[in-house]
Amino acid sequence: MKTIIGRTAAAALLSLALASAAGAQEQGAGGGNAGGEHETATVHYPIEHPKHVDWTFAGPFGSFDPAQLQRGFQVYREVCSACHSMNMVAFRTLASTAGPHFSADAVKALAAEYQINDGPDANGDMFQRPGTPADHLPPPYPNEQASRAANGGAYPPDLSLIAKARTVERGFPAFVFDMFTLYQEAGPNYIYSLLTGYRDPPAGVEVRPGQYYNPYFVSGPALAMPPPLSDGQVTFAQNQDEDPANDVPETVDQYAKDVVSFLMWAAEPHMVERKSMGFAVMVFLIVFGALVYYTKRKVWATIEH
Ligand code: HEC
Repeated sequence: MKTIIGRTAAAALLSLALASAAGAQEQGAGGGNAGGEHETATVHYPIEHPKHVDWTFAGPFGSFDPAQLQRGFQVYREVCSACHSMNMVAFRTLASTAGPHFSADAVKALAAEYQINDGPDANGDMFQRPGTPADHLPPPYPNEQASRAANGGAYPPDLSLIAKARTVERGFPAFVFDMFTLYQEAGPNYIYSLLTGYRDPPAGVEVRPGQYYNPYFVSGPALAMPPPLSDGQVTFAQNQDEDPANDVPETVDQYAKDVVSFLMWAAEPHMVERKSMGFAVMVFLIVFGALVYYTKRKVWATIEH
């Protein structure tokens, strides 16, 4: 019995050794043909880890700042909506008290500023009509092909869920602590870093025309989105009618924070509710656990064991 096991083990080891030797040979041949290409180490993307932002919605008691979400919506509307749709967001949700908290009248007026494609009518034709609060934000392009054609072949993704759809893994040991701090800001940190992270490519890195170098992009050194934000580009409605002392800076950094907060709200409009429900459930479980423990002590107190 012993010898049989010994032999199989030896055979397995031998075949492993042979296989790896063959692999090494293949690699050697490939490297030779490519003329020194194997000297450049594999780069892992993103080149830089996302920056950390202190979001108002972070942690177990975090919530959204309505004024910030209103500014974020303005940035989306005036800048990002030229290329990106947000198909899942209905105008009426912009009145949510846990969200941007626009007044019902403001939402109605806002929706009416958009033309919505509707139909078909009795003749089978599509037609345009002013929007209502029940409509969803209309897309900038009629279909994906049109948006690719306008963006050099790249598809600007729908932003409704993007804050939850993109993350960069944080690795050990961060992910252990993240369980306790309820860390869910990987998406927002990533998008913020992307929006504020454009720079000139370092020497030796070539970027194709129509691509823009950004070390925070998850799938390569450059992407097809030109830097969308610049200082002073959006004049915040909030800065118009209030005391100038309360003015919010009109900078790339502020625009990015505001629009990303808005995207996070859009991706999870019930986050505040979920967190407060979670807290209530934890308090309940602790009290209930204590009650069960003392009941058990009482029940077993007079029983010999
Ligand atoms: C001129 C058109 C244009 C504008 C304006 C624009 N984008 Fe983009 N965006 C793109 C394109 C094109 C892509 C796809 C890039 C690629 O995959 O190479 C993209 C990709 C993205 C991505 C996904 C990146 C990833 O990891 O895949 C995010 C997030 C994003 N844009 C956010 C925004 C935000 C927020 C704004 C407004 C501040 C904005 N974009 C404005 C064209 C635009």
